Amino acid sequence: IHIAVLMGGWANERPVSLMSGEGVAKALEERGHKVTRIDMDRQIAARIAEVKPDVVFNALHGVPGEDGTVQGMLDLMGVAYTHSGLATSVIAIDKQLTKQALVPHGIPMPGGRIVMSADLFERDPLPRPYVLKPVNEGSSVGVAIVTDESNHGNPISRSAKGPWQDFAELLAEPYIKGREMTAAVVDFPEGPRALAVTELKPKSGFYDFDAKYTDGMTDHVCPADIPEHIRDLCLEIALKAHKVLGCKGTSRTDFRWDEEEGEDGLFVLETNTQPGMTPLSLVPEQAKFAGIEYGALVETIIAAALR
Ligand code: DAL
Ligand code: MG
Repeated sequence: IHIAVLMGGWANERPVSLMSGEGVAKALEERGHKVTRIDMDRQIAARIAEVKPDVVFNALHGVPGEDGTVQGMLDLMGVAYTHSGLATSVIAIDKQLTKQALVPHGIPMPGGRIVMSADLFERDPLPRPYVLKPVNEGSSVGVAIVTDESNHGNPISRSAKGPWQDFAELLAEPYIKGREMTAAVVDFPEGPRALAVTELKPKSGFYDFDAKYTDGMTDHVCPADIPEHIRDLCLEIALKAHKVLGCKGTSRTDFRWDEEEGEDGLFVLETNTQPGMTPLSLVPEQAKFAGIEYGALVETIIAAALR
């Protein structure tokens, strides 16, 4: 079949998307498919109409691409595409809307609030330590942890470098101490299944953009060395989030776990509808652990789009 791999675009995660897209395109070519690489620009609809692919593999991350815009356009054009649809994407890209969707289903997420960045210079929105993040970015773009030591305990300084300089509104959440984990879900012909739990151990202590995409900066422990009941709970929650949000193809749910609190210390941070497919990405790694090679994973995601 003829697959258009949609990548790049103008999101902050453009470089990550180019890596995901290239990995996917190469794997599909190796498997004998016709592939057209498309770097998204404002003429994207015309490009796709001209290329006439059987299916679009959406390898975009962030906004636009992960947020429903591209999904809605492809819906209107009648072109099949991988990953989640319009409504799911709109909700899942927004960390606050995701809470409103998942928490009523018993999925634990940290409480938090939306704050105007300008107000941060007056007072802390939450007791420290807390996390500030844009509601709709990925790859830890714009994430900051405010600790007791930050600015010597005073409110954030207007001139300090941080996401408050780039985003008018931010999500403030209590910082959950402990461990960083993730679980991927993939749609198989027989239904969705959670693959594994990976623990991320960034050598810097913070799983930020550099720790995510620089080889050697983070140890990935798959399967995570955690008690069986916590592992099972993560798998169950990841699958539930996938279903509640109506995800398609694949999704990846990220967790923090404060082990001193046992099961009560487990929190979902978010569900990613367009998880990375780069050489250091977690869904391919978990698929491999589950016995599914990268190319087979890509084909499984495409098959879900064509069902
Ligand atoms: N936002 C990155 C691509 C991820 O979730 O893997
Ligand atoms: Mg994300």
